[in-house]
Amino acid sequence: MAATGAAVGLGNIWKFPYLTGIHGGSAFVLVYILCVAALGIPMMMAEVMLGRRGRQTPINSMRTLAAENNASQGWQLIGWAGTLAGMLILSYYSVIGGWTIGYIVHSATGSFSGLSGDGASTLFGEFVGNPWIQVTWHTLFMIITMYIVARGVQSGLEKAVVFLMPALFVLLLILVGYAMTTGYFMKGLTFLFTPDFSHFSGTSMLTAMGQAFFSLSLGMGTIMIYGSYVPKGTSIASTSIMIAVADTGVALIAGMAIFPIVFANALEPGAGPSLIFETIPVAFGNMSGGMLFGTLFFVLLLVAAWTSSISLIEPAVTLMIENFNMTRKQAAVWTGLATWLLGFGTAFSFNIWSEVKVFDMTFFDHLDFLTSNLMLPLGGISIAIFAGWLMTKETSKAELDMNSEVGYSIWQVLIRYIAPIAVSIVLLHAIGIF
Ligand code: TRP
Repeated sequence: MAATGAAVGLGNIWKFPYLTGIHGGSAFVLVYILCVAALGIPMMMAEVMLGRRGRQTPINSMRTLAAENNASQGWQLIGWAGTLAGMLILSYYSVIGGWTIGYIVHSATGSFSGLSGDGASTLFGEFVGNPWIQVTWHTLFMIITMYIVARGVQSGLEKAVVFLMPALFVLLLILVGYAMTTGYFMKGLTFLFTPDFSHFSGTSMLTAMGQAFFSLSLGMGTIMIYGSYVPKGTSIASTSIMIAVADTGVALIAGMAIFPIVFANALEPGAGPSLIFETIPVAFGNMSGGMLFGTLFFVLLLVAAWTSSISLIEPAVTLMIENFNMTRKQAAVWTGLATWLLGFGTAFSFNIWSEVKVFDMTFFDHLDFLTSNLMLPLGGISIAIFAGWLMTKETSKAELDMNSEVGYSIWQVLIRYIAPIAVSIVLLHAIGIF
């Protein structure tokens, strides 16, 4: 449940729909689902397994496991790169988390009431165009995240998540219900599920793969930390499959809620990061009880973002505690400050720096590309190679403890061959080599 809480976040409800929109819909969805099934699930099993065997933070776990398997200590790099990736991701995640806070206020004060598609775009444009509003909510989001991290009370939040995430799911279903009344529900479904590769490119493939890693929280050691708490006797395979199914389910339902609203209001599916903030308010603004449901929705989305953000920074915080002799409070303050400062780059990417582009990409675009499309897949490949090739078969077989011999063999093939080869091909293709 805790790992599902960390996996379900802005990635499912904010990022998945807007990436799907940019990359033309169904083909992206199809490739995404394939990546989750063929790469995500085996890699999650590998990451949980390494964590359970190493029983420490990612860096120290990799150190122990490398020694145990006579492998180079260079494998620790997975832990270091993952720790850095977590901070980089959080720096922008926090800005979007800030958007959800801003939208709680908008909803609770009635800004959505009777809103049209155009009105929602204007509202969002004004919101995101103001750098000080962006910095304020980003700051608040970082404070509430680091407060929990500093006090080390994640377990309290994780208990609450067991009720709050299903509640978020129910509100998504209410949105789907609204989407059914727009008259564009079938158009939305067609967009999502009738294969059409006409807008699909090499970059789309890379983005779909990167999004699979991002949404499942793979490739940076977060899942390793959760793995270190998994007791012996728990099935790693079924837990991983359950997390992947729940995570993908939430993303698909979010898509089913959002695209009918996009088409019904003549909005642009490829609008980008603003997509859910221009569609969901229209739905809540035009349904009865929308003010209450809308506020609740953004509160729950904030909670989902919050639990994910804690898991993004926790590796950096534990690193400071274990390897640099800091107290938890000090570690939280320093890592939090660094991440907060970096976040300004993203906060300004949507206003005063929106025209500051390198290769036609803003600061936010670069940060997102670097982390989701490069760092996470490379981390994932490394984990796959370590689990598949360096760890002995006896060890991985005993750790995974699958009751089906065939299941274990499938995992071996996926983790040793399919995952490293597929990820490499997609990466090389994206940089133009294939
Ligand atoms: N998976 C989360 C989401 O979809 C984000 C997240 C949390 C994450 N922890 C992570 C992404 C670790 C990559 C790695 O919103």
